[in-house]
Amino acid sequence: METKTVNNEGIKKGRFIAFEGIDGSGKSTQIALLAERLRQNGIRCYTTMEPTDSPIGSLIRQVMTGRMKMDNRVIAGLFAADRLDHLLNEIDGILYKINEGVTVLTDRYYFSSYAYHSVDMPMEWVIKANEQSSGILRPAITVFIDIDPDAALERIAKNRFHQELYEKRSRLVKVRENYERAFKLLEKEEDYVVIDGSQTKERIADMVWDAVKEYFV
Ligand code: ADP
Ligand code: TYD
Repeated sequence: METKTVNNEGIKKGRFIAFEGIDGSGKSTQIALLAERLRQNGIRCYTTMEPTDSPIGSLIRQVMTGRMKMDNRVIAGLFAADRLDHLLNEIDGILYKINEGVTVLTDRYYFSSYAYHSVDMPMEWVIKANEQSSGILRPAITVFIDIDPDAALERIAKNRFHQELYEKRSRLVKVRENYERAFKLLEKEEDYVVIDGSQTKERIADMVWDAVKEYFV
């Protein structure tokens, strides 16, 4: 958790909040709504995501679209490297932003790795591979938007063209279970909240606000 709350010039550090959930759970929708609410309350805020748009993130996207083939362990390593750069980049890294007093909302952080890569590998290995990031910065709170994979896939299908729907579904079922397993495993170290993602966008936004507002008073 953030231990020092002011930087060297006495500026109050920004908060860091991570959003997690399976694909189509509504993370990016909720991040946009929370950012709007924070700005209305006069809080400087920056939204970001993983994989990032860095060269490492681009490499990951090439693998995800099937243009490049890589071993699962290498892919997990790339996500861990992308995350470290996301944190440490001197121009627009998360640490730099929060040190300047800006609140950062990220669409995915290390729990995504724990949930997605543990489908193919032991979770302990994935947690270890991300120890640099978790050692440097844990979110003030992780907001997990929980939704049934069928509902998520229905939403995705409305907006995007998707092949291998069946394969995707069975994978998402496992990813959701892995999220639950990871939160349970790390409940002593991590602050998180589970929010029912099956409700309306507005209702979810209110629940997210209730969960995070204590960090901004
Ligand atoms: P994610 O970022 O988790 O993949 P999105 O925020 O992009 O999810 O949402 C996926 C799709 O579902 C989008 O088309 C979005 O408009 C829609 N959506 C988001 N939240 C809700 C909701 N609460 N109810 C119905 N549809 C939603
Ligand atoms: P993206 O298109 O951003 O999907 P979403 O809208 O669901 O966030 O793709 C991110 C994909 O990458 C998503 O399927 C989850 C996966 N992922 C991992 O496998 N490991 C990770 O560490 C991260 C951050 C994402």
